[in-house]
Order: sequence, then structure tokens, then C-alpha cells
Amino acid sequence: MEKKWWHNKAVYQIYPRSFFDSNGDGIGDLKGIMEKLEYLKKLGVHIIWMCPINKSPNDDNGYDISDYYDIMDEFGTMKDMELLIEACKNYGISIIMDLVLNHSSDEHKWFIEAKSSRESPYRDFYIWRDSINGKVPNELKAFFGGSAWEFDEESGQYYLHSFSKKQPDLNWENSRMRGELYDMINFWIDKGIKGFRLDAIDNISKDLEKKIMNSGPKIHEYLKKMNENTFGKHNQLVTVGETGGATPELAKLYTDPERHELDMIFQFELMGIDGVRSGDWIQKEYSLIDLKNIMTKWQTELNEIGWNSLFWGNHDYPRVVSRFGDHSEDYRILSAKMLATMLHGMKGIPYIYQGEEIGMTNIKFTNIEDYRDVETKNFYKRKIDEGCSMDEIMSYIYRNSRDNARTPMQWDDTEHGGFTKGVPWIKENSNYTTINVKQCLEDKNSIFYHYQKLLKLRQEKEVFVYGSYELIYPEHPQVFAYRRTLEKEKILVICNFYGTETIINIKTNDKPKLLISNYRDTNINIDNLHLRPYEAVIYQMEGGEKE
Ligand code: NOJ
Repeated sequence: MEKKWWHNKAVYQIYPRSFFDSNGDGIGDLKGIMEKLEYLKKLGVHIIWMCPINKSPNDDNGYDISDYYDIMDEFGTMKDMELLIEACKNYGISIIMDLVLNHSSDEHKWFIEAKSSRESPYRDFYIWRDSINGKVPNELKAFFGGSAWEFDEESGQYYLHSFSKKQPDLNWENSRMRGELYDMINFWIDKGIKGFRLDAIDNISKDLEKKIMNSGPKIHEYLKKMNENTFGKHNQLVTVGETGGATPELAKLYTDPERHELDMIFQFELMGIDGVRSGDWIQKEYSLIDLKNIMTKWQTELNEIGWNSLFWGNHDYPRVVSRFGDHSEDYRILSAKMLATMLHGMKGIPYIYQGEEIGMTNIKFTNIEDYRDVETKNFYKRKIDEGCSMDEIMSYIYRNSRDNARTPMQWDDTEHGGFTKGVPWIKENSNYTTINVKQCLEDKNSIFYHYQKLLKLRQEKEVFVYGSYELIYPEHPQVFAYRRTLEKEKILVICNFYGTETIINIKTNDKPKLLISNYRDTNINIDNLHLRPYEAVIYQMEGGEKE
């Protein structure tokens, strides 16, 4: 496999709106990101992915772009963006920009033009259908609830929107539209952007007659052409596509370097394990064995071809420690470190979502008015219409809402967690008084320093980057353990996923050397390893280890 500059790096995901507000308007901004580059450097990240920063009316917090060539007013100006790109360069940090290509805002000039008349030269940039017997063209549903079709009075037809009705889908069948997008991508490459995260990218090819909304028949053709006309011309750029419908087979097609489509994808098999935000948001039971099987499947499938994106969450999912760990006072720190250890020992690029590195937790607003997310608000309205009780609705929202991950970054214990001097656009989590960056930086044993160490190991030891993966003790109900091997280099990653003790016996002649642990006095006698609650450890094995 050809080595790439980004193979041993970690990505830090920034949700700019909630990261740091430099001017007191309550909304995070580009200058705010600039002020925190030192912090990111200290953590050890070399790539940042910024969620959309383009001009937007913010129906879906920037995922509804009204001008791809401009910056969202609240975030700053093009000059600020240029300064940020320059500053990142000086810190040795590359920027991955979010490209929203499946849809635009309904306030984009193309859409305004398109709906002005059926004869508009932009009409075909979007997807239009006549009504059928006075009703919607078909029963396709939008991700944010309701029909995927919205009637436009002005021109008397329906347009398609996979997400909110303010996010009309672009028509990728139109080559002029594709050309416009290529120009825009090249504009940002010329500005110094080093990579792209392609939003909902497998939605760009559909087959509406067959009601197929993603991974349609032309998906590979579109990706190839885009690659050829934009990022593919620059050897050093990195791309990651958000592909909700990816199977390992599709993932290999998307990411096989020979095919020139994408470098990596985000697949969501793990994200669906507990039912969060899937179907009707109903909780699904799962076991650690199910989780191990999913992780192992992707590690194995993308071993030779492709490259995994490793993530526990992002701006669309609840906080990792609340979801897969235990955010109680007793175990928040231990379990957050355990989850980090498990993920960062794997093969692929780890993504850290802002606040994960300090163990931020989910939010519970008692008043629905405090929620901001369009999906959450639509869900609420629908459930009220269905006659659901308030308590029941709120229990769904607590577990599923995307706002769990969108409360302001907790920088210190001053008002609003030091995120803003004004009134934050969304309320902060009141636990900022104890969970914050300042506290983490002062405490040598904090979650932050655990992440820092994990990132350093990935830089120092090639086995973390290129070593093969092998699950061990697959049937153990409480422990997730695996081995990575690269020629003579071997590591063992062992994680107790529960708040109770357990034992694991590892038969080996090797000498284990401790690389990292979330307890200060982890055992190095691994023949009879007593694991305490959420204990996680990585050993380097020296000699000829065998079970
Ligand atoms: C996926 C993004 O991550 C999410 O936040 C957004 O709402 C949808 N795509 C639509 O752009």
C-alpha cells in the first residue's frame, strides 16, 4: 500500500458555531478557531475538519449553503478565512473543508432563479416533478421528517429535498451544474484547503423511479469525474466522503486508490447499533460482541484496499462518553479514556469531535424551546401531533438529539464555560464548572493528556498505522481485545467496557511493556490480568508472543 502523509495523523472536528466566539455575538467564529490553534497543536492534531463555514441562512446550521464563494456572516469574512488558512499552515495544521454538494439552500441564487420560471436556465440544476392526481409525486420521505417533496407555488411543481425543505437537492444529472461545483472546489483548493469532507455524498446519485435515494447507478461515475476535475489533480489532498449507505463492498469501490474516487469514507454501521437517530429513534439492545463484530468487520474488510475513518461520534450524534461509556462522576474519566484507547489503537484515521478530548457529556434541556436543531424540532412537532406524552418525547430527545453534541465547547469555569462573552446561540451544559479545558490542562492525568499520548504513539510507532488487526477473545462478553502486528512490532490493546472487574488470561512468552493505561498502576503480569472498571491498556509485546 502506498504511504500517504495523512496515514499517521488524527483529525480534529470543529463545529465552528460552538467552538469559540471571539467577538461576543454568542456564535463561534473563524477568529475564535485561530485563537485556539495553540491548543490543538498541544493536543497533537495535524488536520482539522471544519463543518460548513459558507454563507448560509442556517436552517441546518450551515449545511444549507446560499453562497459557496462566501463566508457565513456570523463566522467572519473571506479575509478571516485567508488568515486562518495561513495561521494553520504556520502551525503545521491542514484544513479539511466540508463540501455540501447534494443540496444547496433554497436561498442560493441558483434556486431563486430556478423557481422563478420553468424556462429558467437554472431550472434543471434542481429536481422537479409534477404532482400526481393533485398529490406529491411519490411517498419518498425526507431525513428530517415529512415528504421529500415540497410544492413550489410560483412554478407549480414539486422539488425534491432529501433533508429540510430549505435544502433543495441539486440535480447531478446536469453537467453544467457539476461544472459549477468543480469550479467552486478548485477555488477553495487554490485558497490552500488541503482536503474535503463530502457531505451526504452518496446521495448525489439517485434513481427516483425506483425510489432509490442513495448510492444510485451513477455514483462512481460522478465521483470519478469530480476527482478528475478537482482534488485528483493535486496529489496531496485528502478526501473523506459521508456515505450513509456504505457496505464494505461499496466502501472498497469508493476508496480503492486505483479507482480515483475518494480516500476514505464515513460508514455508519456502528452509529446505528443502538437505534440512535435511526427509524423512529427507538432504543435497540446490543451487546459488546455485536460492537466488536462491527469494528472487526471494517478493520478486516478495509485492510488491503481502502482506509478506515475511526470515530465515536460527530456533530450529528450524542456525546461518546454518554453513549458508549459512563458519564457518572465515578466513571466519566476512566470510560472516556477507555473508549479513546480502543479506537486509537485501530487501523485508520481517528477523528476527535470537539470536546471529546475533555469528556464532554450529553445535555438535557427541560424546555423544548432551548433546542435548536431542525431535526429535533421536527421530531418534536411530529410526536406532539401523534399525541405522544411530553415525558416520552423528551426521553427520545435526550437520547437522540444532535444538540447533545452542539452545546458550546467548555473552555473554563467562567460564565458560559468561557465560550462567549455574550449570550450563546445554544445554552451551555451547566457541568462546565467541572468539565472544561482549563481543568484538563492543569491535571496531568486528564482525558486530554490521554488523547495527547495516543496521538503521539501513532506518530512514533508504525505498528499503530500499518499493523494488521486481529481480534482476540472474540467471545469475551466484557473485554474488547485485539492485536496489531507489523513485522516484529506487536501491540496488544485490551479494554474493559464495563464498570465491573473482570479477568483475562493471556498466554505468552513475550515480555509486555506498558505503552499506555488509564490507571496509574496497571498490571504487567498479563497471564492473569485483573481488569478494573473500564480499565484500558496497550502493551508492546517484545519477543515471540503466542497465546
Ligand atoms: C450530514 C451532516 O453531517 C448533517 O449535519 C446535515 O444535517 C446533513 N448531512 C445534511 O447536509
